[in-house]
Amino acid sequence: MCGVIGYVGKQPAVPILIDGLRRLEYRGYDSAGIAFLQDGTLHLKRAVGKLANLEASLGGVVSTGSIGIGHTRWATHGRPTEENAHPHRAGRVVVIHNGIIENYLSLKRELVAEGRVFLSETDTEIIAHLIDRAMGEGQPLDVAFRTALARLKGSYAVCAMAESAPDLLVAARQGCPLIVGVGDGEHFIASDVPAILSHTRSVIFLEDGDVVVASAGRLAIIDRQGRPLPRTPVQISWSPAMAEKGGYKHFMLKEIHEQPQALINTIQGRISPETGRVYVNEIGLTPERLRTLTKITIAACGTSWHAGLVGKFLIETLARLPVEVDIASEYRYRDPIIAPTELVVGISQSGETADTLGALREAKARGASTLAICNVMGSTIAREADGVLQTHAGPEIGVASTKAFTCQLVALIEVALALGYERGRLDPQRGKALTDALVQLPAHIDDWLRLSAKGVAAIAKQFAHHNNFLYLGRGINYPIALEGALKLKEISYIHAEGYPAGEMKHGPIALIDEGMPVVVLAPRDVAYDKVINGLMEVKARDGRVIVVVTEGDDEAVGKADASIAVPDLNPLLMPIMLAIPLQLLAYYVAVLRGSDVDQPRNLAKSVTVE
Ligand code: AGP
Repeated sequence: MCGVIGYVGKQPAVPILIDGLRRLEYRGYDSAGIAFLQDGTLHLKRAVGKLANLEASLGGVVSTGSIGIGHTRWATHGRPTEENAHPHRAGRVVVIHNGIIENYLSLKRELVAEGRVFLSETDTEIIAHLIDRAMGEGQPLDVAFRTALARLKGSYAVCAMAESAPDLLVAARQGCPLIVGVGDGEHFIASDVPAILSHTRSVIFLEDGDVVVASAGRLAIIDRQGRPLPRTPVQISWSPAMAEKGGYKHFMLKEIHEQPQALINTIQGRISPETGRVYVNEIGLTPERLRTLTKITIAACGTSWHAGLVGKFLIETLARLPVEVDIASEYRYRDPIIAPTELVVGISQSGETADTLGALREAKARGASTLAICNVMGSTIAREADGVLQTHAGPEIGVASTKAFTCQLVALIEVALALGYERGRLDPQRGKALTDALVQLPAHIDDWLRLSAKGVAAIAKQFAHHNNFLYLGRGINYPIALEGALKLKEISYIHAEGYPAGEMKHGPIALIDEGMPVVVLAPRDVAYDKVINGLMEVKARDGRVIVVVTEGDDEAVGKADASIAVPDLNPLLMPIMLAIPLQLLAYYVAVLRGSDVDQPRNLAKSVTVE
């Protein structure tokens, strides 16, 4: 949902801004722009479309100016045009903004009545005018900025600079992520960590209400009244290389192949290989509280919601505790019944998804305990929940979530095991068998990626021309059918639906003909026979089947048009394994169809608006 970057220091600002925008582009890519000071004059460059267009429009501009701001946009108010691209300028001030100003219409009317002229359809432009007006009344930039903020209702991560304050950046956070990078005689403002990782790993995660006043050598974080706030930088463990493609054609492909290591990182330190016991103290619930919980509700969006659906199976199976799974955007609006003995779990890769954050806030306000399963340290969801179980997937840049998803599944297994042990509902032998299998899982996935990934590329070639796909799964693997379909939709723009295999006969079977490929998840488990029945029903109607089977299942392979074999694993781990060939299938189909894999149209990596 838009990326913002600001720099003030000793180096030329433009290359730093462009590099930062490249790393933020996954947050939005309708248009991009930068503003920088050169010899005391403000320069503004904006372009519709990808960052490459902005770079082209900059041509050979060589600027030595060492202060500037940049923005990559995901349109909310106003179409993706150059006029609507950020930064927005009013008089002596330029502004970039992520979020939504809810009262912008009334503010705009007020400013227009004073004779101010607006050049865009955006809500952001009013911020520039409000600051410029206050500066016109004699306020210095930092004070004028706070005067403007006092008028805003809504959410924002905003950063501004002015021609008359050539060494000052101001920024503020309210409901949208914003960080400050602290360098040696330089400061960075950014939407997230990867944008500045190649410059500094010393980062301050701002809180709502924080205002930043930064020059090259000085940093103040203050409240809206100008009072200093104590904020200490933390050292980020992610390395700059983690936010690079590392020789892969796309971030998504790199992230698919990073899964073995990401899973190891999410397992390590939490499981005792000797006893099979699980240690997740960070979830912030005492053993007593774990024992007395009566219900869990999981709230999440998109891929994270699919993880939640698998989580329901895991927790109900291992801990015998009832679990409801809600689409986070629906949760608040159905007046949920929440007991104080309930735990509400928000799952979010980014930790910034507005719907998931809203659901957790609602649950907390009604007295439930909250837990975040989150990949981004310092994110809003991670900070607001009572406890956090971090997934250690590392930075996920591809818009289509892959490694974060499988790490979420590992985290949910850990929660389910911890609950199962603590509540005395888990046979220790079963727990030990599962943790043994979990510890071995990354090696199985690593082998599979080395030996079998190419086979998926060949299948993609066979089916990439189809415009509709069905995905079928059952039981714990039904959410993987949903996830496989979502991956394909997101990056190849092919219409795809996931269904529980047993539901086929209640409607979707009418869609089956030779033009409808059906991906059937048929590992050998309790639902196997039933899933194979579904497969036969598809074949009987001339449908084309891609079956995903357990290695050695020649019978199922013989019934299908194409097949992918995965190792025989503990059934509770199978969703993690099955997700991977489906990620690759979506990836290769998207590449063949020429779509922009890492930045698919209309999407943004973190959705910070409702
Ligand atoms: C995943 O491929 C999607 N881009 C999307 O569904 C995503 O999972 C969803 O927006 C939730 O994001 P979060 O995990 O960061 O909260």
